Amino acid sequence: PFDVATGAGGETHQHVDPRQPGQARALTSAQGLPVADGQNSLRHGARGPGLLEDLLLREKITHFDHERIPERVVHARGSAAHGSFECLQDCSDITRAHFLGQKGRKTPVFARFSTVAGGAGSVDTPRDVRGFAVKFYTEQGNFDLVGNNVPVFFVQDAIKFPDLIHAVKMEPDRGFPQAASAHDTFWDFISLMPESLHMVMWAMSDRALPRSLRMMDGFGVHTFKVVDAEGRWQFVKFHWRADLGVQSTTWHEAVTLAGADPDFHRRDLWEAIDRGDCPSWTLGLQVFDQATADDLPFDVLDPTKLVPEERVPIRTVGRMVLDRNPDNFFAETEQVAFCPSHLVPGFDFSNDPLLQGRLFSYLDTQLSRLGGPNFHQRLINAPRCPFHHHQRDAQGQMQVPRGRVAYEPNTLDPTGPRETPQGFASLAATDEGPKARLRAESFADHHTQARQFHRSLTPPEQRHLAAAIAFELGQVRTPAVRQRVLGHLALIDDALLAEVCRRLGVEAGRVAPATPVRAPRDADPSPALSQLAS
Ligand code: HEM
Repeated sequence: PFDVATGAGGETHQHVDPRQPGQARALTSAQGLPVADGQNSLRHGARGPGLLEDLLLREKITHFDHERIPERVVHARGSAAHGSFECLQDCSDITRAHFLGQKGRKTPVFARFSTVAGGAGSVDTPRDVRGFAVKFYTEQGNFDLVGNNVPVFFVQDAIKFPDLIHAVKMEPDRGFPQAASAHDTFWDFISLMPESLHMVMWAMSDRALPRSLRMMDGFGVHTFKVVDAEGRWQFVKFHWRADLGVQSTTWHEAVTLAGADPDFHRRDLWEAIDRGDCPSWTLGLQVFDQATADDLPFDVLDPTKLVPEERVPIRTVGRMVLDRNPDNFFAETEQVAFCPSHLVPGFDFSNDPLLQGRLFSYLDTQLSRLGGPNFHQRLINAPRCPFHHHQRDAQGQMQVPRGRVAYEPNTLDPTGPRETPQGFASLAATDEGPKARLRAESFADHHTQARQFHRSLTPPEQRHLAAAIAFELGQVRTPAVRQRVLGHLALIDDALLAEVCRRLGVEAGRVAPATPVRAPRDADPSPALSQLAS
Protein backbone atom coordinates (compact mmCIF):
# COMPACT_ATOMS: atom_id res chain seq x y z
CA PRO A 1 0.00 0.00 0.00
CA PHE A 2 1.06 3.53 -0.75
CA ASP A 3 2.01 5.77 2.16
CA VAL A 4 1.24 9.37 1.24
CA ALA A 5 3.27 10.81 4.10
CA THR A 6 6.51 8.98 3.31
CA GLY A 7 5.94 8.09 -0.32
CA ALA A 8 6.91 4.51 0.57
CA GLY A 9 5.29 1.66 -1.26
CA GLY A 10 4.43 3.44 -4.48
CA GLU A 11 5.93 5.19 -7.46
CA THR A 12 6.27 8.94 -7.10
CA HIS A 13 6.07 11.16 -10.12
CA GLN A 14 8.58 13.98 -10.04
CA HIS A 15 7.94 17.04 -12.21
CA VAL A 16 11.12 17.90 -14.03
CA ASP A 17 11.58 21.64 -14.39
CA PRO A 18 14.30 22.14 -16.98
CA ARG A 19 14.48 25.91 -16.45
CA GLN A 20 17.59 27.79 -15.51
CA PRO A 21 16.75 30.40 -12.86
CA GLY A 22 14.91 33.30 -14.50
CA GLN A 23 14.14 31.31 -17.66
CA ALA A 24 10.58 30.82 -18.93
CA ARG A 25 9.36 27.21 -19.04
CA ALA A 26 8.80 25.42 -22.35
CA LEU A 27 5.11 25.27 -23.30
CA THR A 28 4.16 21.62 -23.76
CA SER A 29 1.11 19.49 -24.42
CA ALA A 30 -0.32 17.49 -21.53
CA GLN A 31 1.86 14.63 -22.77
CA GLY A 32 4.96 16.78 -22.40
CA LEU A 33 5.43 17.49 -26.12
CA PRO A 34 7.20 20.86 -26.54
CA VAL A 35 5.05 23.24 -28.59
CA ALA A 36 6.56 25.37 -31.35
CA ASP A 37 3.37 27.29 -32.34
CA GLY A 38 0.58 27.77 -29.82
CA GLN A 39 -1.14 30.56 -31.76
CA ASN A 40 -2.41 28.79 -34.88
CA SER A 41 -4.33 25.60 -35.41
CA LEU A 42 -3.27 23.20 -38.14
CA ARG A 43 -5.06 23.88 -41.40
CA HIS A 44 -4.79 23.09 -45.06
CA GLY A 45 -3.59 26.34 -46.58
CA ALA A 46 -3.62 29.73 -44.85
CA ARG A 47 -7.39 30.09 -45.39
CA GLY A 48 -8.25 26.41 -45.70
CA PRO A 49 -10.15 23.99 -43.45
CA GLY A 50 -8.89 22.71 -40.08
CA LEU A 51 -7.42 19.23 -39.86
CA LEU A 52 -8.52 16.39 -37.59
CA GLU A 53 -4.84 15.59 -37.25
CA ASP A 54 -4.31 18.68 -35.05
CA LEU A 55 -3.37 16.96 -31.80
CA LEU A 56 -2.67 20.24 -30.02
CA LEU A 57 -6.04 21.84 -30.86
CA ARG A 58 -7.97 18.68 -30.00
CA GLU A 59 -6.21 18.10 -26.70
CA LYS A 60 -6.59 21.73 -25.61
CA ILE A 61 -10.24 22.08 -26.59
CA THR A 62 -11.19 18.69 -25.14
CA HIS A 63 -9.68 19.55 -21.78
CA PHE A 64 -11.35 22.94 -21.82
CA ASP A 65 -14.72 21.38 -22.65
CA HIS A 66 -14.50 19.35 -19.44
CA GLU A 67 -13.24 22.10 -17.11
CA ARG A 68 -16.49 22.40 -15.18
CA ILE A 69 -17.60 19.81 -12.67
CA PRO A 70 -21.04 19.77 -11.03
CA GLU A 71 -21.31 22.44 -8.40
CA ARG A 72 -22.30 21.44 -4.87
CA VAL A 73 -26.04 20.81 -4.68
CA VAL A 74 -26.06 23.21 -1.71
CA HIS A 75 -23.34 25.57 -0.42
CA ALA A 76 -22.10 25.93 -4.02
CA ARG A 77 -20.61 29.38 -3.51
CA GLY A 78 -17.74 29.37 -1.05
CA SER A 79 -14.39 30.87 -0.12
CA ALA A 80 -11.66 29.10 1.78
CA ALA A 81 -8.26 29.40 3.40
CA HIS A 82 -5.55 27.33 5.05
CA GLY A 83 -4.43 27.74 8.62
CA SER A 84 -3.79 25.96 11.85
CA PHE A 85 -5.59 25.00 15.01
CA GLU A 86 -3.83 25.26 18.36
CA CYS A 87 -5.05 23.31 21.36
CA LEU A 88 -5.35 25.74 24.28
CA GLN A 89 -6.26 23.19 26.93
CA ASP A 90 -5.53 19.50 27.43
CA CYS A 91 -8.92 17.82 26.96
CA SER A 92 -7.90 14.24 27.70
CA ASP A 93 -10.33 14.25 30.64
CA ILE A 94 -13.19 14.22 28.11
CA THR A 95 -11.83 12.95 24.79
CA ARG A 96 -9.00 10.83 23.49
CA ALA A 97 -8.83 12.92 20.31
CA HIS A 98 -5.09 13.45 19.81
CA PHE A 99 -5.42 16.99 18.43
CA LEU A 100 -7.07 18.09 21.69
CA GLY A 101 -4.72 16.06 23.92
CA GLN A 102 -2.01 18.58 24.71
CA LYS A 103 -1.88 22.33 25.25
CA GLY A 104 0.09 23.94 22.43
CA ARG A 105 -0.40 21.06 19.95
CA LYS A 106 -0.94 22.44 16.44
CA THR A 107 -2.97 20.85 13.65
CA PRO A 108 -3.19 22.10 10.05
CA VAL A 109 -6.70 23.07 8.91
CA PHE A 110 -8.55 24.12 5.77
CA ALA A 111 -11.77 26.12 6.29
CA ARG A 112 -14.48 26.89 3.73
CA PHE A 113 -17.30 29.39 4.25
CA SER A 114 -20.32 29.40 1.96
CA THR A 115 -23.80 30.61 1.25
CA VAL A 116 -26.38 27.84 1.08
CA ALA A 117 -28.91 28.60 -1.64
CA GLY A 118 -27.17 30.39 -4.50
CA GLY A 119 -25.15 28.77 -7.28
CA ALA A 120 -21.36 28.93 -7.54
CA GLY A 121 -21.56 32.20 -9.49
CA SER A 122 -24.05 33.95 -7.22
CA VAL A 123 -23.28 36.95 -5.01
CA ASP A 124 -21.72 36.94 -1.55
CA THR A 125 -24.16 39.06 0.44
CA PRO A 126 -27.71 37.72 0.16
CA ARG A 127 -29.78 37.03 3.26
CA ASP A 128 -28.79 33.41 3.86
CA VAL A 129 -27.32 31.03 6.39
CA ARG A 130 -23.55 30.62 5.98
CA GLY A 131 -21.71 27.31 5.95
CA PHE A 132 -18.71 27.06 8.26
CA ALA A 133 -16.73 23.91 7.45
CA VAL A 134 -13.31 23.07 8.88
CA LYS A 135 -11.10 20.12 7.98
CA PHE A 136 -8.53 19.24 10.65
CA TYR A 137 -5.62 17.18 9.26
CA THR A 138 -4.91 15.33 12.52
CA GLU A 139 -2.45 12.56 13.29
CA GLN A 140 -5.42 10.19 13.62
CA GLY A 141 -6.90 11.06 10.26
CA ASN A 142 -9.07 13.91 9.01
CA PHE A 143 -11.71 15.36 11.31
CA ASP A 144 -14.34 17.54 9.60
CA LEU A 145 -16.49 19.92 11.58
CA VAL A 146 -19.14 20.78 8.99
CA GLY A 147 -21.20 23.52 10.60
CA ASN A 148 -23.16 26.68 9.95
CA ASN A 149 -23.10 30.22 11.36
CA VAL A 150 -26.45 29.54 13.06
CA PRO A 151 -26.65 27.07 15.98
CA VAL A 152 -29.88 25.32 14.95
CA PHE A 153 -31.40 23.91 11.77
CA PHE A 154 -34.68 24.19 9.83
CA VAL A 155 -35.78 20.54 9.95
CA GLN A 156 -35.53 17.74 12.46
CA ASP A 157 -35.27 14.77 10.13
CA ALA A 158 -32.97 14.25 7.14
CA ILE A 159 -35.87 13.02 5.05
CA LYS A 160 -37.14 16.63 4.91
CA PHE A 161 -33.83 18.12 3.73
CA PRO A 162 -34.43 17.71 -0.04
CA ASP A 163 -37.87 19.33 0.40
CA LEU A 164 -36.38 22.24 2.31
CA ILE A 165 -33.72 22.80 -0.34
CA HIS A 166 -36.18 22.47 -3.22
CA ALA A 167 -38.33 25.11 -1.51
CA VAL A 168 -35.35 27.43 -0.96
CA LYS A 169 -33.61 27.15 -4.33
CA MET A 170 -34.81 28.88 -7.48
CA GLU A 171 -38.20 27.64 -8.57
CA PRO A 172 -37.90 24.81 -11.12
CA ASP A 173 -40.05 26.29 -13.89
CA ARG A 174 -38.72 29.86 -13.94
CA GLY A 175 -35.18 29.56 -12.61
CA PHE A 176 -35.61 32.45 -10.18
CA PRO A 177 -35.29 33.81 -7.57
CA GLN A 178 -31.73 32.95 -6.66
CA ALA A 179 -32.15 34.57 -3.26
CA ALA A 180 -32.47 32.29 -0.28
CA SER A 181 -35.88 33.22 0.92
CA ALA A 182 -37.89 35.88 -0.83
CA HIS A 183 -40.48 33.72 -2.53
CA ASP A 184 -43.66 31.76 -2.16
CA THR A 185 -42.14 28.27 -2.17
CA PHE A 186 -39.85 28.97 0.79
CA TRP A 187 -42.58 30.55 2.92
CA ASP A 188 -45.13 27.94 1.86
CA PHE A 189 -42.80 25.20 3.16
CA ILE A 190 -41.98 27.16 6.35
CA SER A 191 -45.65 27.75 7.08
CA LEU A 192 -46.26 23.99 6.93
CA MET A 193 -43.18 23.02 8.93
CA PRO A 194 -43.37 24.82 12.28
CA GLU A 195 -40.23 23.00 13.42
CA SER A 196 -38.38 25.48 11.18
CA LEU A 197 -39.57 28.56 13.10
CA HIS A 198 -36.62 28.85 15.47
CA MET A 199 -34.12 28.80 12.60
CA VAL A 200 -36.33 31.19 10.60
CA MET A 201 -35.88 33.72 13.41
CA TRP A 202 -32.10 33.41 13.05
CA ALA A 203 -32.31 33.53 9.24
CA MET A 204 -34.36 36.74 9.38
CA SER A 205 -31.99 38.28 11.93
CA ASP A 206 -28.81 40.24 11.23
CA ARG A 207 -26.83 36.98 11.62
CA ALA A 208 -27.86 36.10 8.06
CA LEU A 209 -26.18 39.28 6.73
CA PRO A 210 -22.56 38.89 7.89
CA ARG A 211 -20.31 41.92 7.40
CA SER A 212 -17.40 39.58 6.69
CA LEU A 213 -16.65 35.87 6.75
CA ARG A 214 -14.09 36.81 9.41
CA MET A 215 -16.84 38.18 11.62
CA MET A 216 -19.22 35.30 12.07
CA ASP A 217 -19.49 32.50 14.61
CA GLY A 218 -19.76 28.83 13.69
CA PHE A 219 -21.69 25.94 15.23
CA GLY A 220 -21.64 22.16 14.86
CA VAL A 221 -25.45 22.33 15.37
CA HIS A 222 -25.99 18.65 16.24
CA THR A 223 -25.24 17.05 19.55
CA PHE A 224 -22.22 14.77 19.14
CA LYS A 225 -20.40 12.62 21.71
CA VAL A 226 -16.92 12.87 23.22
CA VAL A 227 -15.28 9.64 24.36
CA ASP A 228 -12.29 9.41 26.74
CA ALA A 229 -9.52 6.80 26.81
CA GLU A 230 -11.55 4.60 29.17
CA GLY A 231 -14.52 4.61 26.80
CA ARG A 232 -16.63 6.96 29.00
CA TRP A 233 -18.74 9.27 26.87
CA GLN A 234 -20.64 12.56 27.25
CA PHE A 235 -22.62 14.74 24.87
CA VAL A 236 -20.90 17.67 23.16
CA LYS A 237 -21.85 20.76 21.12
CA PHE A 238 -19.25 22.69 19.09
CA HIS A 239 -18.97 26.50 19.04
CA TRP A 240 -16.60 28.70 17.01
CA ARG A 241 -16.40 32.29 18.32
CA ALA A 242 -15.03 34.89 15.89
CA ASP A 243 -12.22 36.72 17.66
CA LEU A 244 -13.21 39.87 15.71
CA GLY A 245 -16.75 39.57 17.10
CA VAL A 246 -19.97 39.08 15.15
CA GLN A 247 -20.74 41.96 12.80
CA SER A 248 -23.46 42.34 10.19
CA THR A 249 -24.41 44.63 7.36
CA THR A 250 -27.80 46.28 7.20
CA TRP A 251 -30.18 44.99 4.54
CA HIS A 252 -29.57 48.06 2.37
CA GLU A 253 -25.81 47.62 2.59
CA ALA A 254 -26.15 43.95 1.62
CA VAL A 255 -28.28 44.80 -1.39
CA THR A 256 -25.96 47.60 -2.51
CA LEU A 257 -22.91 45.35 -2.12
CA ALA A 258 -24.57 42.60 -4.16
CA GLY A 259 -24.46 44.97 -7.13
CA ALA A 260 -21.30 46.92 -6.40
CA ASP A 261 -19.08 43.94 -5.53
CA PRO A 262 -20.60 40.47 -5.86
CA ASP A 263 -17.31 39.05 -4.50
CA PHE A 264 -17.33 41.22 -1.39
CA HIS A 265 -16.78 38.43 1.16
CA ARG A 266 -14.37 36.45 -0.98
CA ARG A 267 -12.27 39.54 -1.65
CA ASP A 268 -12.38 40.61 2.01
CA LEU A 269 -11.11 37.22 3.25
CA TRP A 270 -8.40 37.00 0.61
CA GLU A 271 -7.14 40.55 1.12
CA ALA A 272 -7.15 40.32 4.91
CA ILE A 273 -4.99 37.17 4.83
CA ASP A 274 -2.82 38.63 2.07
CA ARG A 275 -1.95 41.66 4.21
CA GLY A 276 -1.28 39.50 7.28
CA ASP A 277 -4.48 40.47 9.07
CA CYS A 278 -5.25 36.82 9.76
CA PRO A 279 -8.72 35.99 11.06
CA SER A 280 -9.07 33.71 14.05
CA TRP A 281 -11.78 31.85 15.93
CA THR A 282 -11.90 30.29 19.39
CA LEU A 283 -13.29 26.77 19.61
CA GLY A 284 -15.46 25.98 22.61
CA LEU A 285 -17.24 22.82 23.69
CA GLN A 286 -20.42 22.41 25.68
CA VAL A 287 -19.96 19.04 27.36
CA PHE A 288 -22.78 17.47 29.36
CA ASP A 289 -23.86 14.08 30.61
CA GLN A 290 -27.06 12.10 30.13
CA ALA A 291 -28.52 13.35 33.45
CA THR A 292 -28.16 16.99 32.32
CA ALA A 293 -29.68 16.11 28.96
CA ASP A 294 -32.64 14.42 30.69
CA ASP A 295 -33.16 17.54 32.79
CA LEU A 296 -33.46 19.95 29.83
CA PRO A 297 -36.97 20.89 28.68
CA PHE A 298 -36.27 19.73 25.11
CA ASP A 299 -34.53 16.84 23.42
CA VAL A 300 -30.79 17.25 22.82
CA LEU A 301 -31.20 15.06 19.71
CA ASP A 302 -33.45 17.74 18.19
CA PRO A 303 -31.29 19.97 15.91
CA THR A 304 -33.81 22.82 16.08
CA LYS A 305 -32.79 23.45 19.70
CA LEU A 306 -29.69 24.95 21.26
CA VAL A 307 -28.40 24.15 24.72
CA PRO A 308 -28.44 27.36 26.80
CA GLU A 309 -25.01 28.43 27.96
CA GLU A 310 -26.32 29.22 31.43
CA ARG A 311 -27.18 25.52 31.77
CA VAL A 312 -24.00 24.20 30.13
CA PRO A 313 -21.15 26.71 29.95
CA ILE A 314 -18.76 26.69 27.02
CA ARG A 315 -15.28 25.34 27.70
CA THR A 316 -12.63 26.99 25.51
CA VAL A 317 -10.37 24.35 23.97
CA GLY A 318 -8.51 25.89 21.05
CA ARG A 319 -7.96 28.61 18.50
CA MET A 320 -7.96 28.51 14.70
CA VAL A 321 -6.00 31.06 12.66
CA LEU A 322 -6.37 31.25 8.88
CA ASP A 323 -3.10 32.57 7.47
CA ARG A 324 -2.67 31.25 3.91
CA ASN A 325 -4.80 31.76 0.84
CA PRO A 326 -5.35 28.80 -1.48
CA ASP A 327 -2.81 28.36 -4.28
CA ASN A 328 -5.56 27.30 -6.65
CA PHE A 329 -9.28 27.91 -6.23
CA PHE A 330 -10.41 24.86 -8.17
CA ALA A 331 -7.91 22.35 -6.78
CA GLU A 332 -8.57 23.37 -3.20
CA THR A 333 -11.72 25.40 -2.54
CA GLU A 334 -13.79 23.64 -5.20
CA GLN A 335 -12.50 20.10 -4.79
CA VAL A 336 -12.41 19.98 -1.01
CA ALA A 337 -14.82 17.34 0.28
CA PHE A 338 -16.12 17.88 3.80
CA CYS A 339 -18.17 15.16 5.42
CA PRO A 340 -19.69 14.94 8.91
CA SER A 341 -18.71 11.27 9.03
CA HIS A 342 -15.00 12.15 8.90
CA LEU A 343 -14.27 11.85 12.59
CA VAL A 344 -11.38 10.71 14.78
CA PRO A 345 -11.18 8.42 17.83
CA GLY A 346 -12.46 10.42 20.81
CA PHE A 347 -15.68 11.50 19.06
CA ASP A 348 -18.86 9.73 18.08
CA PHE A 349 -22.29 10.55 16.68
CA SER A 350 -25.57 10.95 18.51
CA ASN A 351 -28.89 9.63 17.22
CA ASP A 352 -29.97 13.09 15.99
CA PRO A 353 -32.10 12.06 12.97
CA LEU A 354 -30.79 14.94 10.87
CA LEU A 355 -27.18 14.04 11.58
CA GLN A 356 -27.84 10.37 10.81
CA GLY A 357 -28.99 11.32 7.29
CA ARG A 358 -26.05 13.68 6.77
CA LEU A 359 -23.65 10.83 7.48
CA PHE A 360 -24.89 9.22 4.27
CA SER A 361 -25.40 12.28 2.07
CA TYR A 362 -21.97 13.85 1.74
CA LEU A 363 -19.98 10.85 0.50
CA ASP A 364 -22.84 9.98 -1.81
CA THR A 365 -22.94 13.43 -3.44
CA GLN A 366 -19.15 13.65 -3.68
CA LEU A 367 -19.01 10.38 -5.64
CA SER A 368 -20.73 12.15 -8.50
CA ARG A 369 -19.46 15.69 -7.87
CA LEU A 370 -15.83 14.65 -7.71
CA GLY A 371 -15.92 11.70 -10.12
CA GLY A 372 -15.71 8.39 -8.33
CA PRO A 373 -14.41 7.07 -5.04
CA ASN A 374 -10.78 8.23 -5.23
CA PHE A 375 -11.42 11.92 -4.52
CA HIS A 376 -9.86 11.46 -1.09
CA GLN A 377 -6.50 11.16 -2.87
CA ARG A 378 -6.57 14.80 -4.06
CA LEU A 379 -4.07 16.77 -2.03
CA ILE A 380 -6.69 18.93 -0.31
CA ASN A 381 -8.62 15.85 0.83
CA ALA A 382 -5.83 13.38 1.60
CA PRO A 383 -4.96 12.76 5.24
CA ARG A 384 -1.57 14.14 6.23
CA CYS A 385 -0.88 11.17 8.48
CA PRO A 386 0.21 7.80 7.07
CA PHE A 387 -2.75 5.77 5.80
CA HIS A 388 -2.87 2.15 4.72
CA HIS A 389 -5.84 0.22 3.44
CA HIS A 390 -6.75 -2.28 0.77
CA GLN A 391 -9.03 -0.22 -1.44
CA ARG A 392 -7.87 -0.45 -5.04
CA ASP A 393 -8.51 0.66 -8.62
CA ALA A 394 -11.58 2.80 -9.56
CA GLN A 395 -11.83 6.03 -11.53
CA GLY A 396 -9.21 8.65 -10.81
CA GLN A 397 -6.73 6.28 -9.16
CA MET A 398 -3.53 8.28 -8.56
CA GLN A 399 -1.53 5.78 -6.53
CA VAL A 400 0.62 2.91 -7.75
CA PRO A 401 0.52 0.39 -4.90
CA ARG A 402 2.97 -2.51 -5.08
CA GLY A 403 2.45 -6.17 -4.27
CA ARG A 404 -0.18 -8.85 -4.78
CA VAL A 405 -2.11 -8.57 -1.53
CA ALA A 406 -5.14 -6.25 -1.36
CA TYR A 407 -7.19 -7.97 1.33
CA GLU A 408 -7.03 -8.87 4.99
CA PRO A 409 -6.62 -11.04 6.93
CA ASN A 410 -3.74 -12.49 4.97
CA THR A 411 -0.53 -14.41 5.56
CA LEU A 412 1.23 -13.34 2.37
CA ASP A 413 2.01 -9.76 3.44
CA PRO A 414 3.24 -9.87 7.05
CA THR A 415 4.02 -6.13 7.12
CA GLY A 416 0.68 -5.10 5.56
CA PRO A 417 -2.00 -3.11 7.40
CA ARG A 418 -3.70 -4.68 10.42
CA GLU A 419 -6.42 -3.55 12.83
CA THR A 420 -5.19 -1.67 15.88
CA PRO A 421 -6.70 -1.55 19.40
CA GLN A 422 -6.16 2.23 19.41
CA GLY A 423 -8.38 2.56 16.34
CA PHE A 424 -11.90 3.94 16.07
CA ALA A 425 -14.69 1.78 17.46
CA SER A 426 -18.31 2.94 17.53
CA LEU A 427 -19.71 3.28 21.04
CA ALA A 428 -21.79 0.30 22.03
CA ALA A 429 -25.47 1.19 22.43
CA THR A 430 -28.75 -0.52 23.13
CA ASP A 431 -31.79 1.04 21.51
CA GLU A 432 -35.31 -0.25 21.93
CA GLY A 433 -38.62 0.46 20.26
CA PRO A 434 -40.77 -0.48 17.31
CA LYS A 435 -39.49 -0.33 13.74
CA ALA A 436 -41.59 2.53 12.38
CA ARG A 437 -41.48 6.06 11.00
CA LEU A 438 -41.70 7.94 14.28
CA ARG A 439 -40.91 11.27 15.79
CA ALA A 440 -40.54 11.53 19.55
CA GLU A 441 -42.96 13.71 21.51
CA SER A 442 -39.87 15.40 22.99
CA PHE A 443 -39.33 17.09 19.56
CA ALA A 444 -42.72 18.85 19.67
CA ASP A 445 -42.13 22.35 21.07
CA HIS A 446 -41.40 24.64 18.11
CA HIS A 447 -42.04 28.03 19.66
CA THR A 448 -40.26 28.44 23.01
CA GLN A 449 -36.72 28.85 21.69
CA ALA A 450 -37.94 30.98 18.77
CA ARG A 451 -39.52 33.29 21.36
CA GLN A 452 -36.43 33.26 23.57
CA PHE A 453 -34.24 34.14 20.59
CA HIS A 454 -36.47 37.07 19.66
CA ARG A 455 -36.48 38.35 23.24
CA SER A 456 -32.69 38.06 23.48
CA LEU A 457 -32.25 40.66 20.73
CA THR A 458 -31.70 44.38 21.33
CA PRO A 459 -34.50 46.73 20.16
CA PRO A 460 -32.67 47.67 16.90
CA GLU A 461 -32.06 43.98 16.18
CA GLN A 462 -35.72 43.23 16.82
CA ARG A 463 -36.68 46.02 14.42
CA HIS A 464 -34.37 44.59 11.75
CA LEU A 465 -35.90 41.14 12.23
CA ALA A 466 -39.47 42.41 11.95
CA ALA A 467 -38.51 44.47 8.88
CA ALA A 468 -36.93 41.42 7.28
CA ILE A 469 -39.98 39.21 7.82
CA ALA A 470 -42.29 41.97 6.59
CA PHE A 471 -40.13 42.50 3.50
CA GLU A 472 -40.04 38.78 2.77
CA LEU A 473 -43.76 38.26 3.31
CA GLY A 474 -44.38 41.35 1.20
CA GLN A 475 -42.83 39.46 -1.74
CA VAL A 476 -45.10 36.45 -1.22
CA ARG A 477 -47.83 36.39 -3.86
CA THR A 478 -50.12 33.80 -2.25
CA PRO A 479 -52.21 35.39 0.55
CA ALA A 480 -52.88 32.06 2.31
CA VAL A 481 -49.15 31.43 2.70
CA ARG A 482 -48.67 34.87 4.25
CA GLN A 483 -51.59 34.27 6.60
CA ARG A 484 -50.20 30.94 7.80
CA VAL A 485 -46.81 32.48 8.56
CA LEU A 486 -48.46 35.33 10.48
CA GLY A 487 -50.44 32.70 12.38
CA HIS A 488 -47.19 31.14 13.54
CA LEU A 489 -45.74 34.52 14.56
CA ALA A 490 -48.78 34.89 16.80
CA LEU A 491 -47.54 31.87 18.73
CA ILE A 492 -44.02 33.24 19.02
CA ASP A 493 -44.34 36.84 20.18
CA ASP A 494 -47.17 39.39 20.17
CA ALA A 495 -44.84 42.36 19.76
CA LEU A 496 -43.16 40.74 16.76
CA LEU A 497 -46.51 39.95 15.17
CA ALA A 498 -47.73 43.51 15.78
CA GLU A 499 -44.64 45.06 14.20
CA VAL A 500 -44.70 42.76 11.15
CA CYS A 501 -48.42 43.44 10.69
CA ARG A 502 -47.92 47.19 11.01
CA ARG A 503 -45.28 47.10 8.27
CA LEU A 504 -47.49 44.94 6.06
CA GLY A 505 -50.59 47.06 6.69
CA VAL A 506 -52.44 44.08 8.17
CA GLU A 507 -54.57 44.25 11.31
CA ALA A 508 -52.81 42.04 13.88
CA GLY A 509 -56.08 41.35 15.68
CA ARG A 510 -57.45 39.63 12.58
CA VAL A 511 -54.60 37.10 12.41
CA ALA A 512 -55.79 33.67 13.46
CA PRO A 513 -53.05 31.99 15.50
CA ALA A 514 -51.86 28.70 14.06
CA THR A 515 -52.88 25.57 15.91
CA PRO A 516 -49.87 24.54 17.97
CA VAL A 517 -48.59 21.39 16.38
CA ARG A 518 -47.75 18.33 18.33
CA ALA A 519 -45.00 16.28 16.80
CA PRO A 520 -46.14 12.92 15.54
CA ARG A 521 -46.82 10.83 18.61
CA ASP A 522 -45.14 7.52 19.23
CA ALA A 523 -48.57 5.94 19.33
CA ASP A 524 -49.60 7.38 15.97
CA PRO A 525 -46.80 7.04 13.45
CA SER A 526 -48.77 8.49 10.53
CA PRO A 527 -49.97 12.04 11.26
CA ALA A 528 -51.77 13.76 8.42
CA LEU A 529 -49.91 16.70 6.90
CA SER A 530 -53.20 18.56 6.89
CA GLN A 531 -52.84 18.64 10.66
CA LEU A 532 -49.60 20.57 10.20
CA ALA A 533 -51.14 22.82 7.60
CA SER A 534 -53.94 24.10 9.80
C1 HEM B 1 -22.80 20.86 2.02
C2 HEM B 1 -26.36 17.67 2.51
C3 HEM B 1 -27.61 19.60 6.73
C4 HEM B 1 -23.61 22.26 6.58
C5 HEM B 1 -23.69 19.87 1.76
C6 HEM B 1 -23.72 19.08 0.57
C7 HEM B 1 -24.71 18.19 0.72
C8 HEM B 1 -25.33 18.41 1.99
C9 HEM B 1 -25.14 17.12 -0.28
C10 HEM B 1 -22.78 19.23 -0.62
C11 HEM B 1 -21.50 18.52 -0.27
C12 HEM B 1 -20.49 18.50 -1.39
O1 HEM B 1 -20.87 18.51 -2.56
O2 HEM B 1 -19.27 18.44 -1.07
C13 HEM B 1 -26.99 17.91 3.70
C14 HEM B 1 -28.09 17.14 4.23
C15 HEM B 1 -28.45 17.70 5.40
C16 HEM B 1 -27.56 18.82 5.62
C17 HEM B 1 -28.69 15.92 3.56
C18 HEM B 1 -29.53 17.31 6.36
C19 HEM B 1 -30.05 16.10 6.40
C20 HEM B 1 -26.62 20.45 7.08
C21 HEM B 1 -26.48 21.05 8.36
C22 HEM B 1 -25.34 21.79 8.32
C23 HEM B 1 -24.76 21.66 7.00
C24 HEM B 1 -27.41 20.84 9.56
C25 HEM B 1 -24.72 22.57 9.42
C26 HEM B 1 -24.59 22.08 10.62
C27 HEM B 1 -23.08 22.12 5.33
C28 HEM B 1 -21.91 22.85 4.87
C29 HEM B 1 -21.68 22.45 3.56
C30 HEM B 1 -22.70 21.49 3.23
C31 HEM B 1 -21.09 23.83 5.66
C32 HEM B 1 -20.61 22.98 2.63
C33 HEM B 1 -19.31 22.26 2.86
C34 HEM B 1 -18.25 22.85 1.98
O3 HEM B 1 -17.85 23.99 2.25
O4 HEM B 1 -17.82 22.19 1.01
N1 HEM B 1 -24.69 19.45 2.60
N2 HEM B 1 -26.70 18.91 4.57
N3 HEM B 1 -25.56 20.84 6.28
N4 HEM B 1 -23.52 21.32 4.33
FE1 HEM B 1 -25.08 20.10 4.46
